[in-house]
Amino acid sequence: MKGGPTIPRYLFSLELAQLPQYTFDYLVIGAGIAGLFSALSFSPSQKVLVVSKQKLEDGNTYHAQGGIAAVLDEDDSADLHFADTLEAGAGLCEPEPVRALVEEGPELVKELLAYGVPFDKEDGSIALTKEGAHSRRRIWHANGDATGRAILKTLLQRAQERSNLTLWPGMFLVDLITHPQGEGGKLKISFSRGITPQPSSRRCLGGVFLNAEGELAVVWARAVILATGGAGQLYEYTTNPESATGTGLAAALRAGASLADLEFFQFHPTALYLPPAPRFLISEAVRGEGAVLRNLHGERFMAKYHELAELAPRDVVSKVIMREMKATGTSCVYLDLSALSAELIKERFPTIYHRCLRWGLDITVEMIPVAPAAHYLMGGVATDLHGRTGVGGLYAAGEAACTGVHGANRLASNSLLEGIVFGRRAALSAQRESITSEELAELRGSCQEIQGAHNITTTGLQLEIKKQLQKTMTCYVGMEREASLLAKASEILSSLLAEKRAHPSITHRWVEDEDMLTAAMALTSAAAHRRESRGAHERLDFPERDDVKWQGHIIISLDR
Ligand code: SIN
Repeated sequence: MKGGPTIPRYLFSLELAQLPQYTFDYLVIGAGIAGLFSALSFSPSQKVLVVSKQKLEDGNTYHAQGGIAAVLDEDDSADLHFADTLEAGAGLCEPEPVRALVEEGPELVKELLAYGVPFDKEDGSIALTKEGAHSRRRIWHANGDATGRAILKTLLQRAQERSNLTLWPGMFLVDLITHPQGEGGKLKISFSRGITPQPSSRRCLGGVFLNAEGELAVVWARAVILATGGAGQLYEYTTNPESATGTGLAAALRAGASLADLEFFQFHPTALYLPPAPRFLISEAVRGEGAVLRNLHGERFMAKYHELAELAPRDVVSKVIMREMKATGTSCVYLDLSALSAELIKERFPTIYHRCLRWGLDITVEMIPVAPAAHYLMGGVATDLHGRTGVGGLYAAGEAACTGVHGANRLASNSLLEGIVFGRRAALSAQRESITSEELAELRGSCQEIQGAHNITTTGLQLEIKKQLQKTMTCYVGMEREASLLAKASEILSSLLAEKRAHPSITHRWVEDEDMLTAAMALTSAAAHRRESRGAHERLDFPERDDVKWQGHIIISLDR
């Protein structure tokens, strides 16, 4: 299947020679756990630039609560972690990367500890918690429920101490530069039993960025690692921060990479539902410590649907909550923490406790109203075991990538782990395989002019595209999908794209809207193509899982 609007090779025609240019050995785009861990993995002799589109302490890593899963105890094993990951992934996890994840993970988490991450301890040993679908307690956490923040602060400190690393916040990716330039095209969908990035004759040599002042700059590098994170902002209700717009997915597609598993967007079962408060994450670890879900009538309902009750895989819990909300005609269910003492709540979940208190809810005495919200994109830029995307010199890691470890539904707390395991792998591959500085100098000479879809113009007209996009995705491409709704979404997204393209403007907002619309159209096409229900992807018109036809991955690339 192919069709829809054309995705250009470059957004704007630019004479790069007229712009400020910077050269590094390696460029890492994104400063979350995957980006920083990969940057720290390069040899100290290599000059590495890490850019982030907003301030450095931002993004999904910063907001991660529950923790990072890694086998530590003697009653646990890599085999058990492997089996739990595959079980949660609803038949679509790729065994090889999952093996790498569970086997390499524990050593790398110990590296985080050695870097100074203040993982919580109990009686002198690492305190482990449990989350949904884990058969053992294996979730490491820090500062109670502020694990991501603690990891990010530590990695930033270590990165700032390294003289070979440079950190530039406020660098917004416009396009990745490749040699040869190549062409754009329409979205093309294919189906593959594995995730094997399609090889491209292009080589990535860096990127064009808009800085915080809205000025263009070019960064050249011998190899690039894309670690641009999540895309929860495609939806109206999300646990993700404003910056999680899927930056990188569209740029990678334009540069010749392929995307995989985009139809699998995980909705976290328990986001705070207390309008007008934001849909703040209420960690699964709260259920791991004994909280239970109740409906409007105060009844526990999870055990009716799954033997693991509140600790069933995340896709199951979210779907059951939706069903319960429909059955009782409400917009939320309730998380009952009465089995946890007030002391435990304040000590283990200080962020959640204070955040709810700010909205007038004392969770030591009251139940928390919760509802599912967009949380994590299982799909992303298709990569092999070493972070390669198929475009020479372009690697991807973390939530921006699709390594195949999460399948159709990610196991809780496997994402920070994926960030370090595949961030490390991507950096080592990039270092091993990159072109030399001399080769870069020669190639960049022939890339000083790029031909894009638009000339640089600033119309001054800012269309309100983002809210319409989010509404469309929420109404038609949310947790429950159907052919007619998906077709409607494609139609609306295409017309939004045409509308905005009529007023090109080289600004953060315009580029971000273009990228979000591209990612949303790709996700919608993948969701329309997969005519079965599996993991996070539920089709009302194809309610069954179909392993004969659909045990594989939907790959999106450009038809050139
Ligand atoms: C949570 O704390 O519930 C989120 C953890 C995750 O998404 O892995």
